[in-house]
Amino acid sequence: MAKDERFRDLPAIETERLLLRTLEMEDAEDIFEWVSDPHVTTYLFWRAHQSIEDSRDFISWVTTDNLACWGVGLTENSKIIGNCFLHNVNFEHKRAEIAFNIARKYWGRGYATETAQAIIRFGFEYWRLNRIEGTCMVENSASARVMEKTGMTLEGVLRQYVYVKGRSHDMKLYSILNPNRNR
Ligand SMILES: CC(C)(COP(=O)(O)OP(=O)(O)OC[C@H]1O[C@@H](n2cnc3c(N)ncnc32)[C@H](O)[C@@H]1OP(=O)(O)O)[C@@H](O)C(=O)NCCC(=O)NCCS
Repeated sequence: MAKDERFRDLPAIETERLLLRTLEMEDAEDIFEWVSDPHVTTYLFWRAHQSIEDSRDFISWVTTDNLACWGVGLTENSKIIGNCFLHNVNFEHKRAEIAFNIARKYWGRGYATETAQAIIRFGFEYWRLNRIEGTCMVENSASARVMEKTGMTLEGVLRQYVYVKGRSHDMKLYSILNPNRNR
């Protein structure tokens, strides 16, 4: 399947401390360094990468599938310490879902919030979306807190919404609406 042109040539986005940019195959080592950490994947749908080949497959997937994925790079040294997605994008209904992950070593420094704020701005200003939503397992308090800090509103809990790693999980659903669109 060819990548939809709207997901190609995504702009790099600079924030105060980060450079959000599309991933290259050369980033596989940086990705493997932290996605191989099972603490990162506890509340994710996928398991920690077992080998650098998993990280290469991941980069190949995000660069060919119909989604937008930015690597989260530290401005100070260009290291890729996280990623952020807009996926399940529905241009007809002007909405998308956001997801973000940061290397454990860098948790608690506001990087996920800084990233999510920039990507939400991209979705509203560049793609003219009206709604950006995000979900997290109910136990994932850090993710819920990031969504709250970006101004997203808790809409409710989707009961037993996903079947992951051998059991069903309740998911919190958050969303934010574009303040500058006529609704
Ligand atoms: C969720 C995640 C992206 C947050 O990244 P981060 O860069 O540490 O996030 P920030 O520093 O911007 O904000 C984290 C907030 O969560 C809070 N937090 C962290 N752990 C918490 C916990 N166990 N309970 C309650 N709040 C918690 C922090 O205190 C902070 O809030 P504060 O600024 O009000 O103090 C990161 O923990 C991660 O990558 N986790 C693994 C992957 C994942 O779960 N991704 C989300 C998928 S839905």
